[in-house]
Amino acid sequence: MQKDLISIYDLTKEDIEKIFDLTKEIKERLKKGEEDHPLKGKTLGMIFAKPSTRTRISFEVGIFQLGGIGLYFSAQDLQLKRGETIADTAKVLSRYLDGIMIRTFDHNDVVELGKYASIPVINGLTDLLHPCQILTDMYTIYEKKGKYQGLKVVYLGDGNNVCNSWLYGAAKTGINFVVACPKGYEPDKKVQKQAKKDAEASGGNITILEDPNEAVKEADVIYTDVWASMGQEEEHEKRVKLFQPYQINQELVSQAKPDVLVMHCLPAHRGEEITDEVIDGPHSIVFDEAENRLHLQKAIMVLLMGK
Ligand code: CP
Ligand code: NVA
Repeated sequence: MQKDLISIYDLTKEDIEKIFDLTKEIKERLKKGEEDHPLKGKTLGMIFAKPSTRTRISFEVGIFQLGGIGLYFSAQDLQLKRGETIADTAKVLSRYLDGIMIRTFDHNDVVELGKYASIPVINGLTDLLHPCQILTDMYTIYEKKGKYQGLKVVYLGDGNNVCNSWLYGAAKTGINFVVACPKGYEPDKKVQKQAKKDAEASGGNITILEDPNEAVKEADVIYTDVWASMGQEEEHEKRVKLFQPYQINQELVSQAKPDVLVMHCLPAHRGEEITDEVIDGPHSIVFDEAENRLHLQKAIMVLLMGK
């Protein structure tokens, strides 16, 4: 594995399998109540320029359970806000901490942080990508279905950071990934190009469609995310109208395989991209998915910070 986890694109299939194997071990140990402190005395700095429930809490609890401590920093309170460079911040933080987790807007800021930090940098979401989420999602599918290669995962809605990371993840692992989104809301063009190339090597497939009904046929998993991401609040009203046909409701779910799994990275806007009936219904695994953030990110921290 590389020093940082900034994009799933940087991982090999073997890296992903290693993360999944360790996640399984770590989760089983926790469920048995066994103590496990491979990161005893280590400190994870967590920088947030955007809100978070799952990422913040699962990283903070995760590092604690591994024997270390997590420190939360609002990006507003750091000297970064007053113009200190990312490079200088990276160099200074590397003298105090053993790892950095960052959630911010511009993806290039995380790349820059990783470049200048001598310690591991973990991407906790940017406008472009959300790798920890999608690694967790793929792990959760593996846990439920016993495999991921060859499965059809259908993403409905906005071609956003979550969708982009899904393209990379599916391409590395041989998942048949289908996106259905309105015209103009497709996943990032460069990500599409890179993922399609990776998919050729893994036996996966990336398809971008517009019709949600066509997309969900024979789906093993249907996935969605909010229609307006953090930072796009002013577009919310316009998007709600435009994205309506992409809502995951009972009617859409009934067009997929009978044992289809429904996933959402959360937070959900109930009644918009997903109905109450579906998110609280028998196909939904959204809370198992949220729980697995903890176990999977513990594995990532052990692999990156345990060296
Ligand atoms: N899914 C996810 O990253 O949730 P938070 O925004 O609550 O961290
Ligand atoms: N696409 C969403 C994901 C939240 C976890 C956002 O960026 O707000």
